Amino acid sequence: MSCGPRRFPVPLDHIPHPWRERFERAATERRLRSRNRTIGEPRGIDFCSNDYLGLRGDSRLAEASSRAAQAWGCGSGGARLLRGTTPLHDELERELAAWKGMESCLLFNTGFQCNTTVIPSLVRPGDAVFSDALNHASLVDGCRVAKSRGADLSIFHHLDLKDLEARLRHWRSQTPDEGLALVATDAIFSMDGDAADLPGLVELCERHQALLMVDEAHASGLLGTTGAGLAELQQVKGRIPILMGTLGKALGSFGAFVACEQILREELLNTCRGFIFSTALPPPSVGASLAALRIAQSERWRSAKALAQAASLREALGLPEATSAIVPIQIGTDAEAVTVALALQEQGFDVRPIRPPTVPEGTARLRITTGAHLEEHQLEALIRALKGQVRP
Ligand SMILES: Cc1ncc(COP(=O)(O)O)c(C=O)c1O
Repeated sequence: MSCGPRRFPVPLDHIPHPWRERFERAATERRLRSRNRTIGEPRGIDFCSNDYLGLRGDSRLAEASSRAAQAWGCGSGGARLLRGTTPLHDELERELAAWKGMESCLLFNTGFQCNTTVIPSLVRPGDAVFSDALNHASLVDGCRVAKSRGADLSIFHHLDLKDLEARLRHWRSQTPDEGLALVATDAIFSMDGDAADLPGLVELCERHQALLMVDEAHASGLLGTTGAGLAELQQVKGRIPILMGTLGKALGSFGAFVACEQILREELLNTCRGFIFSTALPPPSVGASLAALRIAQSERWRSAKALAQAASLREALGLPEATSAIVPIQIGTDAEAVTVALALQEQGFDVRPIRPPTVPEGTARLRITTGAHLEEHQLEALIRALKGQVRP
């Protein structure tokens, strides 16, 4: 009998028909592309990551992460309520709460896990969730789970406060007073780069006694005088009951959090399944996040640079002004978006196409992001290349 190495790929045929065909078709749609190089030697200039402050490769984060690993280990060893809480987790929660101007904070492992589990844990049958039509997939899924648990779900037109108010009024008129209304929105919409009207939402939610949840994934670290986010920029810091943020975007690390009143933190800590039944963030990520949070507040030039670059790009391409580092360029068909992105990649720009279902059908686009790691001449080169590729 041969003892030689087993030959791969081994033909697998475990999936019964007709599902096999379904999965094979899906597999042709998207491909993972590994970066294949290190931080210092990237593949193409990064115009697609969410590393807005250029902190992902910062040696201070690497050092903090390594110190945390030495002190507390590479893994947390368990869920937060068991052995997974270290003083670093407590410290990060305290600093995030102070930064966001809130009483307390609770860490989550990812933004996706946070949104999909926080929303259902706060509502019951007889409650309702109101969600902006262009919310991130994680908020969408959180609302769907809430619906499956008996809450009403209402999707309001994108950024349309009149539509939201009409829906709130209609629902209230048909519901006993004790029904809770939760309104969920992105602060900066991830695929469009436009901003919610937080003062308008705060006022509306206060008037209708609805609980407002804002996802600041693409605003935290970037917007406002201390980088605390869109709530700070629009001067409603401290007035949003559930302020969610992520640590893997502008803060260059990994994880997510909810900043809120202590009473809500207690509720989540006791009921939120995504928090309770999951291994806590590893100490090296927490250490890196702490370092990043301090740098984000002290080196404000980073966000100024990223935002100025995005503004120049929009101006050069004749796109409307916006307060984010996300610049979407509508291309047309999915195939055209892929072709244009590939042409730009061949010229050395790491730009990726975004297609349905991430964005609505017929709105395939390039999602270009800017960041503190980019240089002026790189942006100018991209603008020249884009003008050669994209029809005005
Ligand atoms: C608006 C928004 N919310 C939540 C998430 C999910 O965060 P995470 O990547 O930490 O799971 C993302 C990620 O892209 C996002 O864009």
